[in-house]
Formats: sequence, C-alpha cells, structure tokens
Amino acid sequence: MKKILYAVSLSLLSVAVLAACQNTGTTAQSANPQSAQSVPSAAEPVLQISTGKEQQGWTVTTLMSHPARQTVQTPDDPAYHQPRQWQAVPLHALLPSLKAGGHTQFKASDGFVATIADDTLLSAATPWIAFETAAKPWPALGAGKPSAGPFYLIWTDAARGNISQEQWPYQIASVAPVQSLTERFPALLPAASAPLKEQALRGLQAYSRHCSVCHTLNKAGDASIGPDLNLPHNPTEYFQEKMLRQLIRDPASVRTWPQQSMPGFSKEVLSEAELDDLLVYLKQMAAQR
Ligand code: HEC
Repeated sequence: MKKILYAVSLSLLSVAVLAACQNTGTTAQSANPQSAQSVPSAAEPVLQISTGKEQQGWTVTTLMSHPARQTVQTPDDPAYHQPRQWQAVPLHALLPSLKAGGHTQFKASDGFVATIADDTLLSAATPWIAFETAAKPWPALGAGKPSAGPFYLIWTDAARGNISQEQWPYQIASVAPVQSLTERFPALLPAASAPLKEQALRGLQAYSRHCSVCHTLNKAGDASIGPDLNLPHNPTEYFQEKMLRQLIRDPASVRTWPQQSMPGFSKEVLSEAELDDLLVYLKQMAAQR
C-alpha cells in the first residue's frame, strides 16, 4: 500500500491531536512534511493512525478514495441503536501492524480512551473505521450534541467477536499501539496478598474493559470523563452495596440530572458474576491507595 504522510494542518483538532499524541510518545510532527504528497485543507479533521514506527494522517477525503473502502451495514450500534449504512475502510487496511498479544488504543476527542486487544481486533468480528461525509452527515447523538463522527470504530459480525459497547469508540482522533493497561499502570493491580486475589483479578478484567474507558483508579489510566474510582475515596466506601450495584446497572435509577453521562451496564453486558468480581476488585483497591 502506498504510504502518504501528511503535514498536519493547524486546525483546532490537530492541536488536540498533538496534545493527545504527547501521551503516546509519538508526535504529529513525526510526519515528515518533506514527504507530504498532499495536504488536507485546514478545515478537514485528521485521524492520526500510528503503527508505532510511523504515523499517518487520514481525512474523510483520503479515506473516501482508499481502495479498500466499502459501504458497510450494521444491524445495531451503541451510538445510534438502529440499522445503519456506513462508508468505511477495514481497520486492517489502515493498520497492518496489528499482532497477536498486542494492544491498540483509540482516543476520542471527548476524553474517552479504549484500549482493545489486537486479538479482539483480529477475531471473528471485523473492525472498520467508518467516516462521516459532508454528503451524508450522521445524526446528532442527542439534542445539542455532535454526531459520532467524523471517525467511528464500527464492527461487522460484532456478536461473533463478543464485542462490548465500549469497544465502539466514536469521535476518534487517534489510533496507536500501546502496551496493555496494567503494563502501563501497575497501580491498577490488586496486591499479591489480596484475600480474594483471583476474583479481584477477574474484576480487574471487567474494570479494564468496561470502566477504564472513562474512569481512572488511583489516578492510573488514560481516560478523563468520569471521577477517579479510588481517590480520594472509593465508591464501595461511600455507597451502600445495593445502591452501588443499582448505579452500575442503571445510573439514572439512583439519581438524575441533565448532564448525566454514564451508561448503564445490563446483565447481558456485565453478568451478575462479573459485577460480583468487579465489586471485589473495587473493595480490594480501597485498601490500596
Ligand atoms: C462512557 C463513560 C463511562 C463509563 C463507560 C463508565 N462510567 Fe462511571 N461515570 C461516568 C461519569 C461521567 C460519571 C459521573 C456521573 C455522570 O455524569 O453520569 C460516572 C460516575 C460513576 C460513579 C459514581 C461516582 C460518584 O462518586 O458519584 C461510579 C461508582 C461509577 N461511575 C462506576 C463505574 C463503573 C464500575 C464502570 C464500569 C462498569 C463505569 N463507571 C463505567 C462515566 C462512565
């Protein structure tokens, strides 16, 4: 595949991307302007995709002319909850460096950060970068809110890959290889001496998948949407267990306000056993700060 490196325009988004890239150890400046073959217009948002060795900026225009672009249909998705048709390029065509055992991080412009195992990205389900075109804008995510665009990670055959709602990051600004969450943030690990260590470790898995995309714990993690779940105090300390369970299942059934944004986790998404494990993990972490 022909590699095109773009000089990054000084649009607001690029500035945001630059800031985001500082955390991943790569910078947008590593795209060598000398080798730029085409420069996107300043108004066009850029999706930065890094293989770890090199970084490439994609715009809606360049994705539209990608040879692997297709019209893709999904029966349902966490942003719109309805059958939809998308213009999309398979992630594999944009990021050929995916490898078993690796992890890939998707950073959204709103502070949501999903780390997805490459094994999942290479599983029976197929991930695509869907992009929003000016000709067919996507609906708003709610009154007064923007759409899921311009770049959205969607899946075909999602059920076959057991893909959860947090693995559909939207408003993506950058994609890059990273080490696993606990390799980067050992402060998330339950202590070797934890009384229910096995269960706490299973709870950590549920936490990594479903909660770390928005929360930090012990200030460890990538995301910045929800409050830290251990500092200064842990919700297992200030919520009664019954209410904490209810809050995780359906936050609005416990308290409600207009800007509320945490999604609920149904039994289909987070089984009763997984919720038990998650609470064991959170309680353990209350003893580790
Ligand atoms: C999409 C982002 C998102 C995800 C995913 C998410 N949360 Fe939240 N969470 C929030 C936000 C934002 C708040 C603040 C309240 C609000 O706006 O809903 C919050 C609030 C909370 C609170 C209340 C804290 C307090 O002191 O009021 C708890 C407890 C909590 N989350 C636990 C979890 C757990 C456990 C998970 C994983 C199963 C999770 N959250 C997943 C965004 C998220």
